[in-house]
Amino acid sequence: MEQFDFEKINEIVTYSKDKAEIAGALCQFLKSVGSLHLDEIITQYEHGIQTAVLAKKEAGNASLITAALLHDIGHLVTGKEEELPDFREVDLEHEQIAVDFLKRIYPPAVLEPIRLHVDAKRYICTVDQQYFDFLSPASKNSLELQGGRFSSLEKELFEENEFFREAVLLRKWDDRAKVENLEIPDIMEFKSYLEESIII
Ligand SMILES: [Fe+2]
Repeated sequence: MEQFDFEKINEIVTYSKDKAEIAGALCQFLKSVGSLHLDEIITQYEHGIQTAVLAKKEAGNASLITAALLHDIGHLVTGKEEELPDFREVDLEHEQIAVDFLKRIYPPAVLEPIRLHVDAKRYICTVDQQYFDFLSPASKNSLELQGGRFSSLEKELFEENEFFREAVLLRKWDDRAKVENLEIPDIMEFKSYLEESIII
């Protein structure tokens, strides 16, 4: 498979008008750079695919499968400082980096679940005590760093987002998609969903 670095994927996402080319390039990019490790258990490539497999099985719509596969692309979309385009002018969190990168080609149905998937953990822990109780100590710690459980006002504001339910679904798949030594399909199996969701 062709190797894709940040510069190459950025150019295609910015300038291509060919949906199949963009979808294929996103897949190749994730495969090329997704060997970055996550929690030292599985790679970002495996994690993205495991998340997308769950989305395909439990929701089945192209927007959510796309969001699932690409939700952590913000961890991978990095370049040398001088090569960074203006979409990354300020220091942003990985969910916002992903949204700023993908907003040239994807609609809110893909972008919003990605943008909200970090806050969705705070939301789920607020409304579901059992979910909170089952978090690992490390995960409870990162929850605190992200602001902890929501206040009732924060909860209400979160629920005002049109895609908050999708964000909650994505977050739950995200949390389950960390299984070691799990057999996964090739990323090209998801290319058609990525292509179908593109709006250019
Ligand atoms: Fe994730």
